[in-house]
Amino acid sequence: MRPGKIVDLFAGPGGLDVAAEKLGVPTVGVEWDASACETRRAAGLATVEGDVRLYGPSHFSDADVLAGGPPCQTFTVAGGGAGRRALDEVLHFVKRMVAREKQEDIKRDLSRLEDERTGLVLEPLRWALSAIDEEEKPYKAIILEQVPAVLPVWEAYAAALQDEGYSVDCGILRTEEYGVPQTRRRALLIARQGDEKVALPSPTHRRYRKGVPREVGEQALQPWRTMAEALGERPDFFVISNYGTGGDPKARGRRASWEPSATITGKIFRNRVVSPRGVELKRFSSPEAGCLQTFPRNYPWSGRDVGQQIGNAVPPRLAMHVLCAAFGWSTPSDAQLQSLETWEHRGAAQMTDPHNASRASMEYV
Ligand SMILES: C[S@@+](CC[C@H](N)C(=O)[O-])C[C@H]1O[C@@H](n2cnc3c(N)ncnc32)[C@H](O)[C@@H]1O
Repeated sequence: MRPGKIVDLFAGPGGLDVAAEKLGVPTVGVEWDASACETRRAAGLATVEGDVRLYGPSHFSDADVLAGGPPCQTFTVAGGGAGRRALDEVLHFVKRMVAREKQEDIKRDLSRLEDERTGLVLEPLRWALSAIDEEEKPYKAIILEQVPAVLPVWEAYAAALQDEGYSVDCGILRTEEYGVPQTRRRALLIARQGDEKVALPSPTHRRYRKGVPREVGEQALQPWRTMAEALGERPDFFVISNYGTGGDPKARGRRASWEPSATITGKIFRNRVVSPRGVELKRFSSPEAGCLQTFPRNYPWSGRDVGQQIGNAVPPRLAMHVLCAAFGWSTPSDAQLQSLETWEHRGAAQMTDPHNASRASMEYV
């Protein structure tokens, strides 16, 4: 298919948009965090700074593809009762939305939830259904990304979208299997209108297994990429992270520069970097942390808490593979993947706020 424009909900600093723009597909992001918006503007990505819940497809009538990475803190509480409860609630809301229950009733019940953020994961479905029912212009393709705990929600979305005439695939992808120098698992959903089967992209690189050399594994695939390959100039090092240790110092994650990075989180700048002899080295800079997420080296990180912005993002290299699969295109070429190494300001600047602009005059300036 030939996409016209992507509207990217919860667009963050632009992980997905960087990939799309490099593939030649224009984007507009909706994002409410001032710092992420500052980065987006510095990059020249078209942005509406605001709450996704206050907009809908009618405000972005030139977009024919929907993308989104809604925040999901409420059910990532691993195995916790609160997380499970929130997940059950969300699945129930999906059923009610698909049954076309009145939007006011759904809105009212969402506002009564213990944690109002729970409802955000339902926003892409609201947009997709509203494009069908109110605009009579279904999105041609839909791409959603989140942490693995969200997979049951994507599965419920998949069933709903199939009933609406989409071909859908969803599952967990591992970023190192797509040439990202980082191990990170994410739940992805891709959907395309019509009967032609869609499938998540196939791995291009081997899976990382602790202690197993990268030459070992399926020979048709390339070896996983290392931090050293992504960062270049640094001599050998180890990264020591506190992520997922529950405060136990013995459980600290440790990765060598000749391995992929552990999952980049918002705490990336707290990770210690040490030499093989244990000498403390300079911690990662923003461009380095960005590179480990496969952002261009010169991406103009701006605003506060850049670590959080980077940790939140979809790695653009993974996004490029996923977008190509969603559009029914072949695997991205080496030239397309290499184009992610540098960034040129897009010159798109900001969009006038759709709430303050008549639809006819809504334009990018
Ligand atoms: C997981 S991140 C998405 C990252 C993005 N997909 C990328 O690749 O860079 C979720 C984002 O949603 C934003 N967000 C949370 N609630 C929002 C809302 N109600 N409206 C707009 N943005 C919101 C957060 O500020 C955060 O940047």
